[in-house]
Amino acid sequence: MAAAAASLLLLQCVVTMLAGAATADAQYSAQTFADLQNAARADVGVAPLAWDDTLAGYAQRYVGERKGDCKLVHSDGPYGESIFWGNKGGNWTASDAVAVWVQEKQYYNCSDGSCAAGKICSHYTQIVWANTTRVGCAAVACDGNLGTFILCEYDPRGNVPGVRPYAGCGQFNRSAQSSPQDFLNLQNAARAGVGVGMLSWDSTVAAYAEGYAEKRKGDCRKVSSGGPYGENIFQGGTGISWTVSDALFSWLGEKQKYDCASNACKEGQACGEYTQLVWANSTRVGCASVTCEGGGTFITCNYDPPGNIAGERPYLGCGGQVGGTPPPTSGMILLISRRKILLTISLIVSTCAQTK
Ligand SMILES: *[C@@H]1O[C@H](CO)[C@@H](O)[C@H](O)[C@H]1NC(C)=O
Ligand SMILES: *[C@@H]1O[C@H](CO)[C@@H](O)[C@H](O)[C@H]1NC(C)=O
Ligand SMILES: *[C@@H]1O[C@H](CO)[C@@H](O)[C@H](O)[C@H]1NC(C)=O
Ligand SMILES: *[C@@H]1O[C@H](CO)[C@@H](O)[C@H](O)[C@H]1NC(C)=O
Ligand SMILES: *[C@@H]1O[C@H](CO)[C@@H](O)[C@H](O)[C@H]1NC(C)=O
Repeated sequence: MAAAAASLLLLQCVVTMLAGAATADAQYSAQTFADLQNAARADVGVAPLAWDDTLAGYAQRYVGERKGDCKLVHSDGPYGESIFWGNKGGNWTASDAVAVWVQEKQYYNCSDGSCAAGKICSHYTQIVWANTTRVGCAAVACDGNLGTFILCEYDPRGNVPGVRPYAGCGQFNRSAQSSPQDFLNLQNAARAGVGVGMLSWDSTVAAYAEGYAEKRKGDCRKVSSGGPYGENIFQGGTGISWTVSDALFSWLGEKQKYDCASNACKEGQACGEYTQLVWANSTRVGCASVTCEGGGTFITCNYDPPGNIAGERPYLGCGGQVGGTPPPTSGMILLISRRKILLTISLIVSTCAQTK
């Protein structure tokens, strides 16, 4: 209990350092970490993880060890482990780490349990690992403006070689996962992380989104409606049951492609869905999801007033910048599971070395 209280205290210190006294006090809470990961689990019909104080205490002690160097080094403990590092200036929060991990879902083939060539899926497969029942996470702003270090511990550990994360290919009750609240929760968590006010659900905008989703039901194509609203579209292929959180995680995952200092996407990369999602002036949202006739899923959100106005910034400031120095151009790095493949480790470490 004392350990739990101490870790909560530390978490709040982190929040204070990163986000001031603003709206972000829930950004590293147990609830936020657990809810986001449990949304991904619910999407494939896997029971939720329970927050565990022992794991959280372990995570908290280990981020303490990494505070000085922010290095992507595993703790080599008894648990499954995912690590996230974001460079200075990003105001990185629980939703950033979880979004980056969960977006690996697009590379995971649940038919044969494989991961697309050159991609990592193991953060995602740990999150949805059915046998894992407990999770504990922690975050720290590293010394010397080295960035933010976030990690989650999982017990029992997943990514056991030769074993699938969950049975079947994620059959679940889709209608249970596309309520307005499902659409709002993650988007508002991401907005709070950059100090932007919440979106509210708007039935007029939602009716527009539903009308357009119906129109795309036949071909499922990712084509803009050309309407009066801002618009984010997600198209999921056949064979997987895609949900609201898949769409939201894929848009949020673009954060690493957005360079706040220059207010532009990194060269050759798209980040407009992220900037629309966190656009401060957009205050109302309405979304819809439809299963297409040929299989596949079309998910759309419309925003009012529309964002992505040329020459304007989504939100003020670039968070965490100290002394006016722009953040480095690199994004973030991650990895997982100490029952890892050495290749993965060296890849990450070298990427890390390049970016510092
Ligand atoms: C997934 O795996 C199955 C079985 O090996 C294969 O037939 C299918 O083409 C794969 N899908 C993708 C998108 O690679
Ligand atoms: C889950 O745990 C049980 C018993 O500990 C084991 O038999 C089974 O293979 C595990 N399954 C997965 C998917 O890890
Ligand atoms: C699916 O979820 C919805 C909303 O929670 C519920 O009304 C419906 O009965 C569920 N359907 C099935 C088949 O479980
Ligand atoms: C926000 O809205 C105000 C008033 O409509 C407008 O003047 C301003 O340019 C907008 N800013 C952005 C960043 O969209
Ligand atoms: C990010 O964190 C800094 C430092 O606490 C804060 O000043 C800023 O308002 C936060 N949000 C954004 C969007 O930069």
